[in-house]
Amino acid sequence: MSGIAHADHPIKSPLDDDAVRALLARALPRGDERILDLGCGGGEWLLRALAMHPGLRAEGVDISAAALEQARASAIDRGVEDRLVLHQSEAEAFSAPHGFDLVLSVGAAHAFGGLLPTLAAARKHLAPGGRVLIGDGFWIADPSPEAVEMLGDFTDLATTMDRVKADGWTPVHGHVSTRREMDDYEWACWGSLSSWALDHPSDPDSAQVLETAETRYTEWLRVYRDTWGFLTLVLRETR
Ligand SMILES: C[S@@+](CC[C@H](N)C(=O)[O-])C[C@H]1O[C@@H](n2cnc3c(N)ncnc32)[C@H](O)[C@@H]1O
Repeated sequence: MSGIAHADHPIKSPLDDDAVRALLARALPRGDERILDLGCGGGEWLLRALAMHPGLRAEGVDISAAALEQARASAIDRGVEDRLVLHQSEAEAFSAPHGFDLVLSVGAAHAFGGLLPTLAAARKHLAPGGRVLIGDGFWIADPSPEAVEMLGDFTDLATTMDRVKADGWTPVHGHVSTRREMDDYEWACWGSLSSWALDHPSDPDSAQVLETAETRYTEWLRVYRDTWGFLTLVLRETR
C-alpha cells in the first residue's frame, strides 16, 4: 500500500523537489562524497544525489524488501546502479567498515526511538568532518493526546533546535516544510490510494485500500493538520 500511496510523491516525506535539491546541495559541498541513508525507503534522496554528482557513492538501509526493490529498479532506470549499494537491515543494526561523509535519515527517526537517538546512530557512521541531513517532526501548536499517540512525542521548533545544538551539532542549513508541502504530501498519498481503489473495483484489496485512504484523510484533517510540522536540517559536529 505504501508503494501506491507514494506513486506521485516518491520522496516519502513532506518536502517538495526544490527543497530536496537545496538541502542536498548544502549537504554535499564537494560532489565526491560517500553517503549513507538510514531508512532510505525507495531511495529517492540517494537517487537524486547520485544524479546530481557523478563522483558520489551511496548506500541505503531499510527493513522493507519492497521499498529496496523499488530503489534498485529506479537506480537502473536512472543509470546509477553501479554507485548504489542497498542493505536490507534494521537501521540500528547496520554497520559498515568505513565512515560516510554524509549520513541522511529523513522521516525514519521512529526506527531509532526519536531524533536524538537517530543523531547518535548517524554520529557512529560519520567520517571526520562529515555532515548529517536529518528530517523529523515537531509541534507547531499544542497537540491533542490523540495526535501524540498517533505521531509520537515531539517538541516545538525552538526546543527541537535547542536539543540538537545541546547534543553537539551546529545546523548549517535547514528547511521547515510549508503548509503547502505538508498538504501536498497528504493529498498525494491518500489521493493515490483512493484513485487506485476506484481504478481497481474488482481487486480483493480495493475496499480495504479505499477505507484506509478515508481513515488517513480523517486523521490528517481532524487529528494533526494544525499541530504537526516537519523540519529538515543539515548538521555538522560542533567540535
Ligand atoms: C517515511 S519513510 C521515509 C523514506 C525516505 N527516507 C524518504 O524520505 O523518502 C520511512 C522509512 O523507514 C523505514 N523503516 C522503518 N523502521 C525501520 C527500521 N527499524 N530499520 C530500517 N528502516 C526502517 C520504512 O521501511 C520506510 O521506508
